[in-house]
Amino acid sequence: MKAHLFVLAAVIVALLGCSRTVGVTKFPIQFPPNFLFGFATVAYQSEGTLRRDDTRVQSNWSEWEDLGKVQDGQRNDLGNGFRDGYAEDLDRAAALGANTFSYAVDWARLEPEQGVFDEKELKRIVDIITAMRVRGLKPLIVLFHWVTPAWVQSPKTGKDMLAQEDSEFVDSFMEVVNYVVPPLAGLVDDWVTFEEPYSIVLAEYIVGEHPPGKILDIQSSTNAIRNLMHLHARTFHMVKNLDNKDTDGDGIAATVGLENLAVEVVPLHPDASEDIKVARHFNYILNHQFVNAIWNGDVDLDLDGQAEENDPDLARTLDFIGLNYYQRVRAAPGALRNVAPFFGTPYVDVREYDPSLPHSDMYQEVSPQGLRTVIEEYSEYGLPLYITENGMADDDDDLRPSFLLDHIYTVGMALADGYDIRGFYVWTISDNFEWADGRGSRFGLYKVDYTREGFPRTKTRSANLFSAIAECRCIDSEIWNAWASR
Ligand code: FCB
Repeated sequence: MKAHLFVLAAVIVALLGCSRTVGVTKFPIQFPPNFLFGFATVAYQSEGTLRRDDTRVQSNWSEWEDLGKVQDGQRNDLGNGFRDGYAEDLDRAAALGANTFSYAVDWARLEPEQGVFDEKELKRIVDIITAMRVRGLKPLIVLFHWVTPAWVQSPKTGKDMLAQEDSEFVDSFMEVVNYVVPPLAGLVDDWVTFEEPYSIVLAEYIVGEHPPGKILDIQSSTNAIRNLMHLHARTFHMVKNLDNKDTDGDGIAATVGLENLAVEVVPLHPDASEDIKVARHFNYILNHQFVNAIWNGDVDLDLDGQAEENDPDLARTLDFIGLNYYQRVRAAPGALRNVAPFFGTPYVDVREYDPSLPHSDMYQEVSPQGLRTVIEEYSEYGLPLYITENGMADDDDDLRPSFLLDHIYTVGMALADGYDIRGFYVWTISDNFEWADGRGSRFGLYKVDYTREGFPRTKTRSANLFSAIAECRCIDSEIWNAWASR
């Protein structure tokens, strides 16, 4: 299991001739001085649902917990303790050599009732971001990461603005953007409108693992995707209007991007023509369909590969693309083939075809060369890229150091080959609440002990690896030899 993956990967890639990855390891890999190394977090996942006065935030996710939909009926009252202990987690990030930190604010905390905003929550966000800056961590702020107030989406009552055909969801979201951005404008230059359109659609309306838990609801999926395209474009323009303060002196007050779940999609059987076709189409949907809309204006809502319309309101609403890259998926025609073009192309999990391949605790197949593939594909848009999430659920921290080394090495090689990549964010600093998996999946470079008061943390070997790289902004042969196959 601990076999060093990158060498094998590089050989395979070289044999297939499908990448510009150099098959020979070259040292040192040097990252530019202004390259960003840091961690990504999401308020709900690390802060939980309780306010400081112990009242509970009412959101689609708190209701989901109430309905017993999280693994083993878990609840996320206190997250991993970040609500009160954020300063210590930021200390840890800075001590590891990070110079950036990403944090997704929680709409449900900010606007508990429609039109009623919580000033205390806003102040808390200002405090957290100020604490980042004091420690030399450049903030990257995400405005929407799946959690809505219960008045927007409620799995209990069935209310769901995101799935509506009208613009109520987007109109409502603009109110919170208008509330939260101005007080942060003097602290933040880098913004993300929202994260992972297809994680939302698949988990909420196709497989039903996230609220509102719909299964194969194609009408809602289509409405949600359209709403999310407009949410992105309108948020992009609104942030540009509201943030006129250049905090880092580069002459630009606000850069605004999207984070997409970037996935390496390959055919399950590399020679089967049906699998190849399906993989190509699935790759288009996951990696390109949404970005095409917000960059070129090409809207393909029926997912057939052809845009039905060109919407100039959506076009050119990206300053950068954030890639959340975790894994390779294998695609094959599925039993649902006739339902719809997209929903008939599910991917298979590594446990279904070869669980002996290196994988995370969540059965995500490890593939550093897939990161190179997605970097190459997304570079076609001509925009700067950030690796805004990368990491591994690995409870015993056995595979993760070499996983991170291989992925950061891949980024270094891509930089050396001229690709415009500005930063790398590990998911995440401390174990947290992994959505429907709850506390079961551990991604943290600090391991959290949930059985003890205050949720104390223990540093992992992965944290040492991260710090070795971030401190010298390099991968030299010493780091490589120390970490590559352990
Ligand atoms: C990503 C999510 C993030 C986290 C990681 C493991 O898809 O954006 O919140 O749960 O997966």
